[in-house]
Amino acid sequence: MEKYLSLHFERSTPLGLEEARAQGRYATAETVLRQKAPDEVIEEVKAANLRGRGGAWFPAGVKWSFMPKEPQGPSYLVVNADEGEPGTFKDRQLMEKNPHLLLEGILLASYAIRAHTAYLYIRGEYLASYRALVQAVKEAREARLLGPNLFGTDFHLEVVIHRGAGAYICGEETALLNSLEGRRGEPRPKPPFPAVYGAFGRPTTVNNVETLANVPFILERGARWFRDLGAPTAPGHLLFGLSGPVRRPGVYELPTGTTARELVEEHGGGLIGGKALKAFVPGGASTGFLPADALDVEMDPETLRERGTMLGTGGIIVIPDDVRIVDAARVFSRFFRHETCGQCSPCREGAAWSDRVLARFARGEGHRDDFDLIEDIARGSTRRTICVFPEAFAGPMLSAIRHFRDEFESGVAAPDNPTSVAHQEA
Ligand SMILES: Cc1cc2nc3c(=O)[nH]c(=O)nc-3n(C[C@H](O)[C@H](O)[C@H](O)COP(=O)(O)O)c2cc1C
Repeated sequence: MEKYLSLHFERSTPLGLEEARAQGRYATAETVLRQKAPDEVIEEVKAANLRGRGGAWFPAGVKWSFMPKEPQGPSYLVVNADEGEPGTFKDRQLMEKNPHLLLEGILLASYAIRAHTAYLYIRGEYLASYRALVQAVKEAREARLLGPNLFGTDFHLEVVIHRGAGAYICGEETALLNSLEGRRGEPRPKPPFPAVYGAFGRPTTVNNVETLANVPFILERGARWFRDLGAPTAPGHLLFGLSGPVRRPGVYELPTGTTARELVEEHGGGLIGGKALKAFVPGGASTGFLPADALDVEMDPETLRERGTMLGTGGIIVIPDDVRIVDAARVFSRFFRHETCGQCSPCREGAAWSDRVLARFARGEGHRDDFDLIEDIARGSTRRTICVFPEAFAGPMLSAIRHFRDEFESGVAAPDNPTSVAHQEA
């Protein structure tokens, strides 16, 4: 299989402009800007069915087509480089190793949506990525690959890099926009959607780093080439994350639809120390748990939805059988409790309550009616808030109980429960 996204991931330093150009970077941007109209670019990306890699899998070309064709004033591209989802570390690789690929994607997307400023909102902790991007933008500006009259056309583009301050919610696109504007990082009610009222009240498209990194290849090789890769409903390659106690954790570029088993066993080399697999998280913390017997699942958004979960960011977290699911779920609930922005009370209270209940189970002090309470919290918080954060904290706890109820049963307090942790320890 020919890789295209991860070609330089083995490097210890970012690929500089000279090398990047020798590999063909910016050649596609030059051809496209000189020969294609913005709408032709949108049509090609639509035809490729490139779906967003930030977690929601919304078609990028369709999103771009919502932007005004004859803007009265500025439109913006905002690059989501917040990468806060636990288990996800693929945008970081792209930015640290191949920043000019992202810049070329930004150039092409900005041209398509008629934006002349692109804001790149980067997670504050990503210092190496930030430095690589600052250097790449400087190189591109000096080489007139950013700035006025690009490639002799009248298209101009500036890229502004903005560092976040370490809040998971700022990855949600409208919280990100608020944060970019210097406001509290709280999601905005939708509608209006960013294409109508985005950054600074102007039409805005928000795209994930990996989504944009695919764009130069689609425009160079064509929509048909892209559509032939991976799962028909979500084509292309995906940068899968693999973490947990496997022999070779890391980022793997594979077609969408690759099975979780291939990732864990072939590429990851299986679990260390001969451990057995108990469960795995298919695509970042908010996608919840699947049991080991689901390992043959094809990793594409539709198949995972049929399984009651999501592909999310494609960040697989492996859970070995010596870890209690209750404890794994508690790690996530503590994270979500900490990261709820607190704007909507069902989310603020729901995240805190679910963490308290999971902590009870983990201590072996669960109540018999805590099972109902968890269902209640999930019902009472999801679909009642400005963003989908409650879905993110409800998924892990509900799936943990669905697939591993016996482990929760043993977390119910003694003395009425002979299998409880507390009973056994007494
Ligand atoms: C709580 C929450 C956190 C999110 N974090 C990120 C993130 O860190 N990076 C990202 O690209 N998208 C994140 N998203 C998704 C974005 O809202 C948005 O869908 C995405 O940036 C759009 O880009 P795409 O269409 O290219 O995938 C998050 C969504 C939610 C609800």
